[in-house]
Amino acid sequence: MHKNSTDWENVGKWYNQIVGTHGHHYHQSIVIPGVLKLLNLVEGKTVNLLDLACGQGVLSRHLPAAASYVGVDAAAQLIKAAQSYQHKRPCKFVHADVIKPLALPPESFSHATLILAAQNIEFPLKVFENAFKYLQSKGTFVVVINHPCFRIPRQSSWQVDQANKMQFRRINRYMSNMKIPIQTHPSQGQNSPQTWSFHHPLMDYSRWLHEAGFVINLIEEWCSDKTSEGGAAKMENRSREEIPMFMAIAACKR
Ligand SMILES: C[S@@+](CC[C@H](N)C(=O)[O-])C[C@H]1O[C@@H](n2cnc3c(N)ncnc32)[C@H](O)[C@@H]1O
Repeated sequence: MHKNSTDWENVGKWYNQIVGTHGHHYHQSIVIPGVLKLLNLVEGKTVNLLDLACGQGVLSRHLPAAASYVGVDAAAQLIKAAQSYQHKRPCKFVHADVIKPLALPPESFSHATLILAAQNIEFPLKVFENAFKYLQSKGTFVVVINHPCFRIPRQSSWQVDQANKMQFRRINRYMSNMKIPIQTHPSQGQNSPQTWSFHHPLMDYSRWLHEAGFVINLIEEWCSDKTSEGGAAKMENRSREEIPMFMAIAACKR
């Protein structure tokens, strides 16, 4: 990673491999279907979608053929990967920082997305302001984040209450803003490439959307669809169904 940069240039090759054409497991089973539902793309209505921090453009390969798509990401390697996939619709991929003004016509998009990326960007309010700037009036903005109440890198974990045979989520810190380095290959220790994760309490996301000019229409919480096997399966499956992994917010430009 470039100094002071949050882009995923240095892990682009690895990320493109795990996402591939259709997405990683959670993209395919939970995130993309959930985003498509929240986007509420109505057949016959023009769809012009801006995908902020698009990575290698996985969403573009799941949209209806009639939708136009622009993806923006600060990692040149991921933009190059995005361009290398086959697309059945007009697609444009732009290498740019989504917290800065973009070389796009304002108010030109019907929908915008920010998928699994708000927590990798240092100033989410600036991205929300950009979404507002480039969306048409009443445009839809869908944001998906790792659930900020339950998935806080280094500060949340599964624990087992042996007496009650319950797996529960332990949260050490929640209200503080945190900038947390993430090793993409922990087994390599200090030699592992690193990305940044930024934790903020849920109310910050709500406030930033409000400040940027959005009204929140809906919040959804999505649980993992994985299942355990073996002796602890019942306990693990139950806790997985109780503690959501992702939060999705559908907002509307005022
Ligand atoms: C976890 S990836 C998600 C990518 C994609 N939305 C997906 O679901 O596969 C986070 C992305 O945020 C991008 N990113 C981080 N900071 C950025 C910034 N300031 N401007 C544009 N992209 C940024 C990274 O380069 C990376 O592609």
